[in-house]
Amino acid sequence: MQTLFDKYGGFATVSKIVREFYREVLQSPSLKHYFEGAQMERIIDHQTKFIAHVLGGPAEYTGRELGTAHGHLAITGAAFAEVAAILQETLEDAGMESEDVATVMGIVASARGSVVRE
Ligand code: HEM
Repeated sequence: MQTLFDKYGGFATVSKIVREFYREVLQSPSLKHYFEGAQMERIIDHQTKFIAHVLGGPAEYTGRELGTAHGHLAITGAAFAEVAAILQETLEDAGMESEDVATVMGIVASARGSVVRE
């Protein structure tokens, strides 16, 4: 089965989505502090892995488990919801079909338990 990553143009599209998503996340007063300790490179790396992950992209993910990567950040349900909303908007703006956006948002929702700690 073709992944959404391939369907929508692989890394070229992911890189465009990452830039948009990143710009929005860091502009949010309630989200930017989560990323303060992280260096630019790590943030870009985060966004790229995040997007590629939810699009079913390259399987050779070598980062930490989501629970381990986020456990120390005390991410609230509200922050998670905001990040998810920004992602949804970014995907819609990138021209992704609504059915595929719904698939991606389902995957994001399923990761909520590993990311949120409150
Ligand atoms: C489904 C939702 C999410 C996914 C799939 C995801 C994915 C990831 C991935 C793959 C990493 C890198 C792990 C590594 O390389 O070891 C990461 C790190 C990180 N994530 Fe997320 N993330 C999600 C939600 C969030 C949210 C809601 C926030 C903040 C509000 C957030 C903030 C961060 C930060 C700050 C890091 C860097 C941690 C560090 O370097 O110590 N993430 N995330």
